[in-house]
Amino acid sequence: MTTITLIEGDGIGPEICDATLRVLTAVGFEADWDVQPAGAAVLEAEGSPLPQRVLDSIAATGLALKGPVTTPVGTGFRSINVCLRQTFDLYANIRPCRSFPGLALPFSDVDVVIFRENTEDLYAGIEFAAGSADVAHLAELAGGKLPSEAAVSLKPITEAGSRRIVTAAFDYARDNGRHKVTAVHKANIMKETDGLFLRVAREVAAERDIAFDELIVDAACMKLVTAPSSFDVIVTENLYGDILSDLCAGLIGGLGLAAGANIGEAAAVFEAVHGSAPDIAGKGIANPTALILSAALMLRHVGEAGKAARIESAVARVIAEGRVLTADLTDNASAASTREYTDALVAAL
Ligand code: NAI
Repeated sequence: MTTITLIEGDGIGPEICDATLRVLTAVGFEADWDVQPAGAAVLEAEGSPLPQRVLDSIAATGLALKGPVTTPVGTGFRSINVCLRQTFDLYANIRPCRSFPGLALPFSDVDVVIFRENTEDLYAGIEFAAGSADVAHLAELAGGKLPSEAAVSLKPITEAGSRRIVTAAFDYARDNGRHKVTAVHKANIMKETDGLFLRVAREVAAERDIAFDELIVDAACMKLVTAPSSFDVIVTENLYGDILSDLCAGLIGGLGLAAGANIGEAAAVFEAVHGSAPDIAGKGIANPTALILSAALMLRHVGEAGKAARIESAVARVIAEGRVLTADLTDNASAASTREYTDALVAAL
């Protein structure tokens, strides 16, 4: 039996993990779950939101299903997600967004897969405090372009990092019958960093038989909200990918529906795009679909494509029927709870 690290996370994490495990059981997928608490809840007791035992577990299993964890804004511990991605070199963050028939939204034909580089860019966490000696040194190097009282973040982009994410996007397109890869960048302004990413994207594209185009990130945003069906696979850097994938989640009905996978050579972590949703945590009303669909991506990863397809079609059926929907998907005052919605999914399976 496959051993899988399970991080329930905090906020709505435990609620949506419970729903996801019910669906996995209903589809007949059995695993040996190594449950590893992490996040704000263990910080006080263990001195770290991401204790070594969690990392040891993922190192041993190579596979994790993860609920969201809270990261304080501006202060406190660094993001557990960023740390996991860097520790296990989970360089490819794959985020598919496809319209669900039945939801009343401006577009019904969205089918985009975002490949977000997951280890570099401004998320590398290289920051210097305003007025520090480091910034004074950088200001000297910048020759008058950087005020020494500025706070500074560095944006590392490497040729190897760019090549492997673009290659992963093209491989995915080839293996999944996709027709086009679009590189999204801001190389007109960041000529060195984004310029390098774009040059590598062009080089990889030149060796492939799949259509390729490129768009500046601001233009990509405009086109995504006016003509989303013109996109197929998007490959981009870390920050743009983070933002574009929430935008695409909005196009298909919101964060409650957007699944994700973080893939590296030695490990893979499957998690929803959304966060811990503190505003609705503990109320039993969260939409578990994003984590359930992330678990379906995990099933495909471990060679259980049939079970993944059954889960995906059960989700599509329940949403298309429109009778049992969580509050984020309906104006109906009698929206379903997380449990009622999960009951409907289990019944549909
Ligand atoms: P969020 O994604 O948690 O919530 C944004 C909005 O979407 C909220 O109104 C929330 O109620 C709603 N929402 C999110 N997921 C939902 C679901 N499954 N069902 C129904 N509604 C849902 O983003 P926010 O508020 O910016 O972040 C909260 C915390 O989560 C922060 O500490 C952030 O750092 C963390 N976070 C963690 C992530 C992870 O663990 N992978 C990813 C993104 C954020």
